[in-house]
Amino acid sequence: MKKWVFMNANTNEKPVAIVTGASSGIGLKITQSLLENGYCVVANSRTISKSKDLKPSEDLVLMDGDISKKGAAIKVVDAAMKHYGRIDLLVNCAGIYISKPFTEYTSEDFETMIGTNIAGYFFVTQQVIAQMRKQQSGHVVSISTVLVDQPLAGAHIALPVLTKSTIPAFSRALAMEYVTDGIRFNTISPGVVDTPMHAKDDHELLKKLHPIKRLVQISEIVDALHYLQSARMVNGENIRIDGGAHAGAKW
Ligand SMILES: NC(=O)c1ccc[n+]([C@@H]2O[C@H](COP(=O)([O-])OP(=O)(O)OC[C@H]3O[C@@H](n4cnc5c(N)ncnc54)[C@H](OP(=O)(O)O)[C@@H]3O)[C@@H](O)[C@H]2O)c1
Repeated sequence: MKKWVFMNANTNEKPVAIVTGASSGIGLKITQSLLENGYCVVANSRTISKSKDLKPSEDLVLMDGDISKKGAAIKVVDAAMKHYGRIDLLVNCAGIYISKPFTEYTSEDFETMIGTNIAGYFFVTQQVIAQMRKQQSGHVVSISTVLVDQPLAGAHIALPVLTKSTIPAFSRALAMEYVTDGIRFNTISPGVVDTPMHAKDDHELLKKLHPIKRLVQISEIVDALHYLQSARMVNGENIRIDGGAHAGAKW
């Protein structure tokens, strides 16, 4: 069943989305769901052309590239414009997670995390906004983490929190900067989601991190994106999907 109607109802054009980090986990399911719901999608990751789950088609362009590089961001946005002529939605999903005791992070860890988790949304969002301003419409949804709101005793999360904490603040700032251009910015902050990112981790232990003691399902993130996409008065919002973890420190 289709979860939303076409955004460009007055022109009968298919809406167009860019999804970064689209080869795996959350980004992959978001891409598949957007395609099922009538979108054209430009899907990016460093290795997406090798994807077994996504095949290029009239409605899907696969763009390899390290999205932390401005050049890659430009190519992704150029592909959307060349193939589809507009951009209605950007989903900033590319991200990595390096967990170490704070004093053990190396300069390389720092640069990799800042690169992927911050530069990875910065440049592509810049390029997309330039186009959305011409359209006077658009929506940017970025994926943060609820660890930003509720760190855990003894958890080694300083660098993930440092990088991901920028996202809700960035989204709120841009929501205000571009409100008169008809562009919305929202954040989704999950708890621990059952994706390949945590394939080798102890799921029984991870479940206990949520007051509702199970992992978040990817479909629950996809549903939040659908909601945000349809909720035209929701702007600068941060939706936590964490079984209530952000609400309290003890459970
Ligand atoms: N899983 C969780 O529990 C959880 C919780 C909170 C937030 N999140 C956030 O949700 C997002 C998706 O996570 P996930 O669990 O779906 O992870 P995942 O399955 O590991 O997928 C990560 C995606 O990012 C891509 N990627 C990594 N570095 C990239 C780069 N430099 N340029 C372009 N693409 C890049 C990967 O593809 P390539 O390797 O091909 O580049 C892959 O498609 C991330 O931002 C993550 O921080 C996840």
